[in-house]
Amino acid sequence: MPSLKIAPSLLSCDFANIEREVKAVEAAGADLLHVDVMDAHFVPNLTIGPLVVASIKKVASKPLDCHLMMTDPQRYIDMFARAGADYLTIHVESNAPIGATLDDIRKHGVKPGLVVNPDTSIEAVKPWLEQIDMLLVMSVWPGFGGQKFIPKVLDTVKAARALAPELDIEIDGGINGETVKEAVKAGANVIVAGSYVFAGDYAERIASLRV
Ligand code: DX5
Ligand code: ZN
Repeated sequence: MPSLKIAPSLLSCDFANIEREVKAVEAAGADLLHVDVMDAHFVPNLTIGPLVVASIKKVASKPLDCHLMMTDPQRYIDMFARAGADYLTIHVESNAPIGATLDDIRKHGVKPGLVVNPDTSIEAVKPWLEQIDMLLVMSVWPGFGGQKFIPKVLDTVKAARALAPELDIEIDGGINGETVKEAVKAGANVIVAGSYVFAGDYAERIASLRV
């Protein structure tokens, strides 16, 4: 299994002090910075666009893991790549032509990834497993931070790990010092946590996710 990486979700940070927050979570041990892009269509919420990603990029030293919760992510690959995204993950449930969009992401020099919602079977991503650098399994319904972990997605993580022993498998939603244990046992190695990290001492919280 690839090495464990912790990716605090900036969705729960203090946006009035984003530079300070980025530097603080990096100093506290973050391996990646998870950036939640929501389009008010694929999900009911509206959050971060390329302009803000470019601002984060200016002050960040860790890679930006941009999670595109968008109906038509294919239209925005160029903008997010130019803004400095290091990973761009698109939902398999989106309208994107999946193979072509993953290719386009890679052509931009960015690492492509796919995301599955809690009810989506691993079968849905099988055709593209060779083409991606990361598979993100949602452990809440996308749209908001601070929701409760959905345990049945652990079966999806296990199935994904069996199919792709070397792949980075990310889990996102409801992760804390307890739920992380099950997630890692199932085979996840990239751990997103928003409200848990930002509601406490960042270094302590990040350390507690290294199980
Ligand atoms: C939810 C987002 C998550 C969110 C996680 O739509 O994709 O990344 O920030 O938040 P917590 O860790 O609070 O569940
Ligand atoms: Zn996310």
